[in-house]
Amino acid sequence: MKLVVKIGGSVIASPINPELIQRYVELLKTLKNDGHEIVAVVGGGSLAREFIAIAKKLGLKESAQDEIAISVSRLFAQLFLKKLGKLSCQDVPASLEQIVQCLKSEKIVVLGGLKPGITTDTVATMIAEKIGADLIVKATDQEGIYNKDPRMHKDAIKLDHISLEDLTQIFKLDKHKAGIHQILDPEAVKILRQTRTKIVIVNGFNPKNVLLAVKGEKVGTLIT
Ligand code: UTP
Repeated sequence: MKLVVKIGGSVIASPINPELIQRYVELLKTLKNDGHEIVAVVGGGSLAREFIAIAKKLGLKESAQDEIAISVSRLFAQLFLKKLGKLSCQDVPASLEQIVQCLKSEKIVVLGGLKPGITTDTVATMIAEKIGADLIVKATDQEGIYNKDPRMHKDAIKLDHISLEDLTQIFKLDKHKAGIHQILDPEAVKILRQTRTKIVIVNGFNPKNVLLAVKGEKVGTLIT
């Protein structure tokens, strides 16, 4: 399968967790061994947000703040590339074309952000569109998507499956509920509505969940 794995900065980098990064490196190797083509997108987590705050204090405009955050996400991508060695391309790709080139050489692709004004969720969906991915797995800091914000409602229920249309409705109805909002960037949802790429949201603190999602087992929330 052609896979895009989004590894949240909230998972591996907030705070920075070398042991978990190592487990993700192993996971990417396993997926490669199983015959999959893999593009992994990593976020910058709290370090990126710290740098955004510094850039803001320095009076830098938003696009410059974003560029700084992208650089941080690329640092994490670089850690992956160094650990993967020959199994991956040497440099962190900075464009969709470079990603396609790297995939052609049968290597594992790992990147951070691509351009200002978007998030790594959107990057993952753009890549999925470009390469015709079979599946996106988003490894995040929650179990999946809930019918209401689990941080505000004790009776919130995790959904095993939701359609993109219903997800769009939740976004519209619950604009104020940041928890639901943050779980998948609305811009990414817009792209997914066009491409119809299957996406599974899983708890990324256990990398095995990504493997389960790839195997089609019931885990997290499947969005179709
Ligand atoms: P993300 O919000 O995607 O990082 O990007 P994350 O840490 O993985 O987030 P979680 O774990 O999914 O919650 C962090 C910031 O980097 C900039 C934006 O400012 C974004 O808010 N960014 C990232 C870009 O400007 N362009 C990109 O392509 C990626």
